[in-house]
Amino acid sequence: MSDADRELRVSKIRNGTVIDHLEAGQALNVLALLGIDGSGGEGVSVGMNVPSDKLAKKDIVKVEDRELSQSEVDVLSVISPEATINIIRDYEVVEKKRIERPESVDDVLACPNRNCITNADEPVQTRFIVLEDGLRCGYCGEIVREDEVATHLNVS
Ligand code: CTP
Ligand code: ZN
Repeated sequence: MSDADRELRVSKIRNGTVIDHLEAGQALNVLALLGIDGSGGEGVSVGMNVPSDKLAKKDIVKVEDRELSQSEVDVLSVISPEATINIIRDYEVVEKKRIERPESVDDVLACPNRNCITNADEPVQTRFIVLEDGLRCGYCGEIVREDEVATHLNVS
């Protein structure tokens, strides 16, 4: 048995997307961001604190029968910019996507400012401008620092 086989914690998938090299601790945030909760019937595997060459420990998420688009994966830049995305078809990696940092992210974060128009009774969808070390609300200017992002995810 090779080292790779011995270290395989989550089985290979036939078709779908593997989100690899996630910062340890981010797997569940990734699922929340992508709106994946298993209710669609898709196969979802999650590995947490998996040993890795590149990082001391990593998280990994595998979503079967769904190929994430570039704009879907770019949203992940706000929590795990170093992640790599592998598109799998018939067990082969057919494409590797790198996350690109988008200029803004829509409907992903909730604004921490209670008086922001995005928190009104008839709220408008949030838009955050992506800065180097955080994000700025496009409506009220409130800043969400990089290390605060996970606590402001717009999940219902
Ligand atoms: N993978 C999978 N199912 C497949 C093929 C690959 O779950 N049918 C997973 C692998 O376990 C790995 C990731 O997809 O976590 C990327 O696969 P591969 O490119 O073969 O691995 P590496 O060369 O180690 O990738 P990298 O260069 O990104 O480290
Ligand atoms: Zn705001």
